[in-house]
Amino acid sequence: MDWRLAFFVALFPPKTIATRMEFVDLFAGLGGFHLALSELGHNCVFASEINEKLRDLYEKNFGIRPKGDIREVPIECIPRHDILCAGFPCQPFSKAGDQLGFNCPRWGDLFDFVLKVVAHHQPTYLILENVPNIEKHDEGRTFKAILAKLRSEGYDVDRRRLSPHQFGIPQIRDRIFIVGSRNGLDRFCWPEPTNVKPDLRTILDEAPEDVRELPPHYIECLDVWQEFVKQYPSLPVRMPSFPIWSMEFGATYEYEHTTPHEMMKTKAGRARLREQRGSHGVPLADVPENKILDALPSYAKKPQKRFPRWKIRYIKQNRDLYQELKPWIDEWIPKILPFPSSLQKLEWNFKEGERDIWKHVLQFRASGIRVKCPTTAPSLIAMTTTQVPIVGETKEEKRYMTKRECARLQSLDSLKHLPASDHLAYKALGNAVNVKVVRMIAEQLLHPTVAQVHMSLFDNPAGDDGSTDRLGVATVESPTEKVVC
Ligand SMILES: C[S@@+](CC[C@H](N)C(=O)[O-])C[C@H]1O[C@@H](n2cnc3c(N)ncnc32)[C@H](O)[C@@H]1O
Repeated sequence: MDWRLAFFVALFPPKTIATRMEFVDLFAGLGGFHLALSELGHNCVFASEINEKLRDLYEKNFGIRPKGDIREVPIECIPRHDILCAGFPCQPFSKAGDQLGFNCPRWGDLFDFVLKVVAHHQPTYLILENVPNIEKHDEGRTFKAILAKLRSEGYDVDRRRLSPHQFGIPQIRDRIFIVGSRNGLDRFCWPEPTNVKPDLRTILDEAPEDVRELPPHYIECLDVWQEFVKQYPSLPVRMPSFPIWSMEFGATYEYEHTTPHEMMKTKAGRARLREQRGSHGVPLADVPENKILDALPSYAKKPQKRFPRWKIRYIKQNRDLYQELKPWIDEWIPKILPFPSSLQKLEWNFKEGERDIWKHVLQFRASGIRVKCPTTAPSLIAMTTTQVPIVGETKEEKRYMTKRECARLQSLDSLKHLPASDHLAYKALGNAVNVKVVRMIAEQLLHPTVAQVHMSLFDNPAGDDGSTDRLGVATVESPTEKVVC
């Protein structure tokens, strides 16, 4: 080590250099960005959130009342700031939505409002977050346009896909983070994944008070699936890696070159269809003509000429599976029939592990029941209360994760108040950004280490390298200890 650097480091042991900066929190939600940046000693001067209940909560938690719809806030009402944070709504870009992008009437224009604030205030730093699919949306054109617009406002920009589970936090939640700096990003490094193996059990409470138990018919349905899993051939035969669609067991309707919807259009097609079998092998000949589509799986009823390739593959895989295991599956089928169709599908979401559903993390999704390893929870989505992840090993523990536990998945543990209504709480938790991931990014972006700054001072004695921001430099050991140097 250079002796001058050694001397400096001896004087100022490796703390973090920071400036107390001002930030704005656009699309504030529960305040994931707020928590991360205030933990680093920064000060929120403005927030915006359209949902009134979330605004009330933000005020309760942070003592600052967000303004409402960002479109209606006059730009002069937004104070000057050094850091702009925005987790702009992801619905227009999400795989789960209709992917209208910038043309989405409800949310598509919101990035333009972010840009408007950026152009007016020219904050030194930007931290933005969205779903990974934004990179692929419109064959990459949407994301290219976003980066180009930020660059044209004078920012160096970079992006990375990160998930809390890469840092020992038990939630898989891939998100794209974009950072921008008017001082360049030469000294910025993305946080390196620690790859410490997460364990969901570390965030579960022993005997939470506000526990919601599973409704009995969900338990019954999971017990039926447990029977299926138990009877499935044991290792070395692996559990199916494709979603198990029980409706395909016994079905024979055509799917490779046409669809039932297409066949229904002609007399000949309808006649052919009536010779085939629908969900769980129901003979379509026995069904009145106007009820034929009702006797098919919901994913097979869509008005389309051909099924997409992935659907054709899943149907084939399920029918092959049925042919292989027909004798015991035929005995099992009547047990799954009483349940709604979303409960008749199961995704075994990991390679191997104990063949016991109750020893894993479960989630009821529109696409089926998801069974996951207990190392991580499924990505929290803007959930309905029934989509909340489920944990349980013993009879007493067959329960949904509580709001507090879900908050821990988002590293929002220190949030004092959560929404009182379960519905709003789980929705907002599913929309929030993971605080630790933002904090790690912000540390790298805003707080170059002593060594880094010092080296650059030696390289550039004039100190005009941007490391001394307009508010001056401070060293921070913890967010509350600040020493001006
Ligand atoms: C993806 S979430 C961001 C969550 C936030 N980063 C957090 O940690 O909780 C987007 C948020 O933007 C809010 N929102 C949607 N449209 C808005 C608008 N026009 N103005 C302000 N907020 C809006 C939504 O209510 C939602 O809470």
